[in-house]
Amino acid sequence: MSMHYLAALCVTVGTFLVLRLLLKRSRSNGETTTSHGRLPPGSRGLPLLGETLHYLAASSTPGLLPPFFKQRLERYGPIFRTSLAGEDLIVSLDAELNAHVLQQEERAFQIWYPPSFMRVFGADNIAAKLGQLHRHMRTLILRLFGPQGTRLVLLHDVQRSARDELRSWLHLPDVEVRTATSRMIFGVTAKKLMSHDDAAASGGSLWKWFHDWTSGLLSFPLSVPGTTFYKCMQGRKNVMKVLKQQLRERRRRSSSSRNSAAAEREAVDFLDLLIDELNKPDAVMDENTALDLLFAMLFASHETTSMVLTVVLKFLTDNPKALQELTEEHEKLLETRIDPDSDITWEEYKSMKFTSHVIHESLRLANIALVLFRKANQDVHIKGYTIPAGSKIMICPLASHLNTKVYKDPSVFNPWRWKDIPEPAGASKDFMVFGGGLRLCAGADFSKLQMAMFLHCLVTKYRWKAISGGTMVFYPGLQFPDGFHIKLLPKI
Ligand code: HEM
Repeated sequence: MSMHYLAALCVTVGTFLVLRLLLKRSRSNGETTTSHGRLPPGSRGLPLLGETLHYLAASSTPGLLPPFFKQRLERYGPIFRTSLAGEDLIVSLDAELNAHVLQQEERAFQIWYPPSFMRVFGADNIAAKLGQLHRHMRTLILRLFGPQGTRLVLLHDVQRSARDELRSWLHLPDVEVRTATSRMIFGVTAKKLMSHDDAAASGGSLWKWFHDWTSGLLSFPLSVPGTTFYKCMQGRKNVMKVLKQQLRERRRRSSSSRNSAAAEREAVDFLDLLIDELNKPDAVMDENTALDLLFAMLFASHETTSMVLTVVLKFLTDNPKALQELTEEHEKLLETRIDPDSDITWEEYKSMKFTSHVIHESLRLANIALVLFRKANQDVHIKGYTIPAGSKIMICPLASHLNTKVYKDPSVFNPWRWKDIPEPAGASKDFMVFGGGLRLCAGADFSKLQMAMFLHCLVTKYRWKAISGGTMVFYPGLQFPDGFHIKLLPKI
């Protein structure tokens, strides 16, 4: 083969490759039709990086769609393609598609989360489990945090902790609400999950390690000493060490009590339930799955609710009319009681209509689970597009929560709007803060109860003054960059 021929071949092949690349790029800026059908429009952005920088850089405030989503919604419509952190994704801001995807769990779609998520939550976390095992894990969680447990046990525990916590705030010159409520809720849930006496088991560090871990959740997943993500992974390592020690110690004790033919032991916390599962001859769960579940529960049970509770307090601070109506609702409850200091009953809790509106409105705007992920198990033809089997889907329910056809002036905090909209017991296509389908949040009832109890104790005994902070941003998850600092005062 002559040199000329080789050079000509190289030029031809080179030109062909460049043209292919250019064609592919220009096609990916619009809609693409493949043998599967018409793919949603979109762009894959830069090689490797995709559109990650834009996704991470663009911040927003509650009540507004973050610019990443807004710009693409305007350019492509509510269903589009992108590429984030090395993953090609189909993004859905469409209420019907979102609901369809969640309702089709383990049929046309199934849960999938990006590798960085699986790293921080553990390879055996509940999102990695399907079918019977997933159902089984949910049943265990709901034994503690489902409607029965919430009504009979948690109602009282939660009230007690809210009362004690608020009493302690009175003596402080400045309370950062997010940190204080996170620590308070951790106190209740760590006890329910593993009868955890924080001071005894880890020198008081368990909550702090969790805090390190959570601070890095939204950081770039580069685990090199000095980075936030590294601190996050160290936090997880420390927490897992304590959990493993406690699980092994408890298993050892439970097997020796069985050997000594001790009387039938009653499960007293979630760790006991897990150990009973592991000890079964036909156990479906292994130790790693149990540990990752315990870890996820410790996280989910305090980080989520404390964030929304901080949002509630911020909205109430800025909306005196809403605060007044909320206070009146709780004062009325006190008037009907013989002993104003007695525990709130389940019936009283269920009668807190305006409180429930305030919580739903805050959840709608705060939208702490900004995106959910799934993958398609088969080709799905919907809304004129094809979602090919194997596609990864990123659902953003926020767009439905800001839909002007359902929520008038959606960016405004208006708890009264819920007087005319039925509050969804589970999920609806227009209100998906707790997800939906088989994976509907297992702590939704508990979370709402906890917020209502806290508000009851707060507005019946105290008032507060905002000192500093309180600015909320999405970047890309909801945060209070300067915290929210208040001074608690006795009620006049
Ligand atoms: C305001 C508070 C909360 C919000 C907004 C929230 C949101 C969510 C969402 C959106 C999902 C679905 C994830 C998906 O489908 O991919 C979920 C699942 C879950 N949540 Fe929550 N959550 C909250 C509080 C809690 C609490 C307090 C607990 C525990 C006590 C909890 C435990 C769980 C569990 C275990 C799952 C996984 C369910 C499954 O895979 O079957 N959550 N949560």
